[in-house]
Amino acid sequence: MKKIKISPSILSADFSQLGEEIKRLEKCGADMIHVDVMDGHFVPNLTIGPPVIKALKKSTSMLFDVHLMISPVHKYIDDYSDAGADIITIHPEATDDLDLSISKIKRLKKKVGVSLNPETKIDVIIKYLDKIDLVLIMSVNPGFGGQKFMPEVLSKIKDLKKIQEEKKLDFDIEIDGGINFENCKTAIEAGANILVSGTTIFKSNNGDIKKNIELLKSK
Ligand code: DX5
Ligand code: ZN
Repeated sequence: MKKIKISPSILSADFSQLGEEIKRLEKCGADMIHVDVMDGHFVPNLTIGPPVIKALKKSTSMLFDVHLMISPVHKYIDDYSDAGADIITIHPEATDDLDLSISKIKRLKKKVGVSLNPETKIDVIIKYLDKIDLVLIMSVNPGFGGQKFMPEVLSKIKDLKKIQEEKKLDFDIEIDGGINFENCKTAIEAGANILVSGTTIFKSNNGDIKKNIELLKSK
C-alpha cells in the first residue's frame, strides 16, 4: 500500500502572496505543491505560467506537481520543464500525439502524468500505463476550485487499480477536485494515493492548513 500524499492546490491560495503560502504549506506537512496551470482556452479560466512557477521554485524544496490544463500542450512542455516542474501532467485531449508528448516529458527527465476529465474513459490511456508515473483522475470538470466532488469517478479509480495490479505497474493515482474530509476516505479506498485539495486545505477550520492536511492524511 503506497503512502498517502497530499498535494495542496495553490489555486485556492492567496495569489497576492503565493511564495509565503507555499512556505506555509511546506511547514504544515504538504508532500508536494499542486500547480494548476490554465490557459483560458482548454478551460474557461486563466492562472499562472512558467515565469511565476520559476519564481515560486525559490520558495520551497518541495516537488512541483504541475497540472497543465492548456492546449495545445506539446510545444509548451519545455517551458514548464525549464521553469522547474517536477511532475508534468497533461490532458490527452490537449495533444495531437499523446505518445510523443509523454516521450518528450520523459526525455526531459521529468515525471509524466496523464489527467482524465470526469467523462473521459480510462481506455484512452491503458496502452500508455507502462510509460507514465501518475494518472490524475479529475473528480470535477477542470477550470475552477471549490466545485462539488463527482463520486462517479471512483469506479474509474477502482478499474485503474485493478489493471495496475494485473500488469504489476507502479504509477501513482492522484485524485483532483472537491476532495474533503468526508470523501477522501472513499477516494483512498478506491485506490488513490495522492490527494489534491485546494478549498478544503485553505478554507476549512478557519484556514488551519496544518490541521486540514493532518485530517486528510489521517483518513
Ligand atoms: C481544477 C483543478 C483542481 C482544483 C482543486 O481544475 O485542477 O486542482 O484546484 O481545488 P478544490 O480542492 O477546491 O476542488
Ligand atoms: Zn489540478
